[in-house]
Amino acid sequence: MIAVLLALTFVFALAACAGSSKPAETTAAAETTTTAAASETTAGTDTTAAASSDTTSAAAAGGTLTMATSADFPPYEFYDGDKIVGIDAEIAAAIAQKLGMELKIEDMDFDSVIPAIQSGKADIAMSGLTVTDERKLTVDFSDSYATGVQAIVVPEKSPITSADDLAKNVGKYKIGVQLATTGDIYASDTPEKGGFGSDNVEEYSKGADAILALTSGKIDAVIIDKEPAKAFVAANSGLKVLDSAYVSEDYAIAVQKGNTELLGKVNDALKGLIADGTVKSIVDKYITAK
Ligand code: ARG
Repeated sequence: MIAVLLALTFVFALAACAGSSKPAETTAAAETTTTAAASETTAGTDTTAAASSDTTSAAAAGGTLTMATSADFPPYEFYDGDKIVGIDAEIAAAIAQKLGMELKIEDMDFDSVIPAIQSGKADIAMSGLTVTDERKLTVDFSDSYATGVQAIVVPEKSPITSADDLAKNVGKYKIGVQLATTGDIYASDTPEKGGFGSDNVEEYSKGADAILALTSGKIDAVIIDKEPAKAFVAANSGLKVLDSAYVSEDYAIAVQKGNTELLGKVNDALKGLIADGTVKSIVDKYITAK
């Protein structure tokens, strides 16, 4: 009984970390301050310009870079208190700094991240976001800055030992995924195409919710990216990540389709940060190499 309570406490703590009740946005750099507009107009000068209020501060000289993310995905993006931290948050901050811009992070459900780029609500998306041909039709991607692998999480005593066990027993197991992720897309596909059929897939708006359903026995497995899988397993007792890797992927930054100017700037900044070792040191800080 105590063990069960403890396990539940961990799950809830993790769900809280995933930020379901956290404020929707956080500013990573200094707040933009309003510089007082020139208070007097001199005869003979352009009064319109002199009177217009100037809302630019030194910190935001290059403007604001708004990043869309779903901060429920450790170690890429998650809450530390009320601050969004992680590999993506730190790489984004380094890019913004290189571009002389102020980074603003907008947290949202994962299925809203790409729409936020399409609508222009955000400039860049960094969300452990996998490059896929389908997504390339809706957004443009930067060079890749990391790789990911889809992993399978099961209870420690599960009879499921590999992706094959799932593939050979379609209909027998319920599989949980985070809505609109590549894990969801693969799993929901038809068995002929390597999936398990959407009837056998439960979609959750947060990965942590899928993990919670797994701990309580509502589903039999969760398919999610490997590093978050490891983080969730570490935070919840009684679960394990299967060794057999499922699908390998590239993570990249998305920008609005056709915004070649921003894409060029992001890629240049990223190249510099990869070349000087910044990206590697950020990744190493969050993922302990084995
Ligand atoms: N790599 C997967 C995808 O692109 C999962 C990303 C989920 N990201 C998140 N922040 N929850 O679909």
